[in-house]
Amino acid sequence: MNSHQRPSMTRRQFVTSSAAALAAGGFIRNAHASDKISPALQQTARGPFRVIIDTDPGVDDALALLLAMRSPELKIEAITPVAGNVPLEWTLPNALRMVEIAGRTDIPVAAGAKSPLLRRLVTATYAHGENGLGGAVFPEPKTKPVNQPAAEMIRQIVRKFPGEVTLLPIGPLTNIATALNLDSELAGLIRGVVMMGGSLSGGNITPAAEFNIYVDPEAARIVFQSGIPITMVGLDVTRKTSLTEDHLRELQAGQNPVSQAAATIARNAIQHNRERGFVVGPNMHDSLAIAGFIDPSLLMLKEYYVDVETTGELTAGETLGYSPSAGDLQRRPGTEKDTSAMNMSIRGSAPTLAGTRTSPVVRDKFIPNAKVAVDVDSARFFNLLIGRLSGKQ
Ligand code: RIB
Ligand code: CA
Repeated sequence: MNSHQRPSMTRRQFVTSSAAALAAGGFIRNAHASDKISPALQQTARGPFRVIIDTDPGVDDALALLLAMRSPELKIEAITPVAGNVPLEWTLPNALRMVEIAGRTDIPVAAGAKSPLLRRLVTATYAHGENGLGGAVFPEPKTKPVNQPAAEMIRQIVRKFPGEVTLLPIGPLTNIATALNLDSELAGLIRGVVMMGGSLSGGNITPAAEFNIYVDPEAARIVFQSGIPITMVGLDVTRKTSLTEDHLRELQAGQNPVSQAAATIARNAIQHNRERGFVVGPNMHDSLAIAGFIDPSLLMLKEYYVDVETTGELTAGETLGYSPSAGDLQRRPGTEKDTSAMNMSIRGSAPTLAGTRTSPVVRDKFIPNAKVAVDVDSARFFNLLIGRLSGKQ
């Protein structure tokens, strides 16, 4: 059985066995992996894990930040706002507001990019409101950001704790790519990336692209090509995380500042959605990425080679997932008898007459670069999210 075929088991069996195979660093190895984790490592597999959260708050970012700051499994070394849902002039103060509401002004906040690497900023104020919090209003933050820019902060923390830091980007990847461009050795020192971003099942801002990748496709390609172990929590699973009025009632019942702030944001966001004709939502995209790192058994992961479209006039920001089991790879001529997935080539678009390429093959080996979340236990996800935000857990 190659590493991409799972033994036939129910999803419940897979999730249970994945929980048992919880790997250090917060990633699930394939459920059928025979390797066990030593007791000593299992202890560290429960954290706390050093993380940096890169974010564009944003309604779902705000709830994700509150979840993260209420989670003992995470040692949040920094929060690095980036332009995305709304301009940086909003994402920065919104991140500072969340840090103050959570009573976590111990966490440094470092301002990041005001615009993508090579493109004009396209925001999502239609979804998050002009102020980024669905219209929910909180006092101006008193806390100030640190002096270093986000990319320098990321570089310093990763170099201070080589091999220990996981990046949790839940917005466009501009800051992460800028940090990697600053320091050519940095990728080899980063433990992993668990991102909210991408989709193998169609976009949400264009039919092809998910918003975070759409805003800065060039930055996303740098991250996917970096060699860092990547877990991609995309629309394939985050579409199954719709916040409901029942969740809102549980947050309203929580007798603490985090629960009350989350309820205010949730109430405004649900109302914002309903006024625009959406009968469900908003989805908790970013909280699922954070929760999937805290408890990897929430997600079913599958290995893909993922690349990012950066030149499409209509499709820039699309994340394409290549997998031998999907039947869209070809064996290299002469290797037809070889069952290894390695000898399968990756095809791009047909070569143009004006271009230099003469073959559609863009890579002659299938080497996976990401674990993509293909299913989620939504009920357990919301138990964790609402339980932690309301203070019940
Ligand atoms: O497509 C969903 C993503 O785009 C989420 O991170 C949301 O906050 C927006 O940034
Ligand atoms: Ca976001």
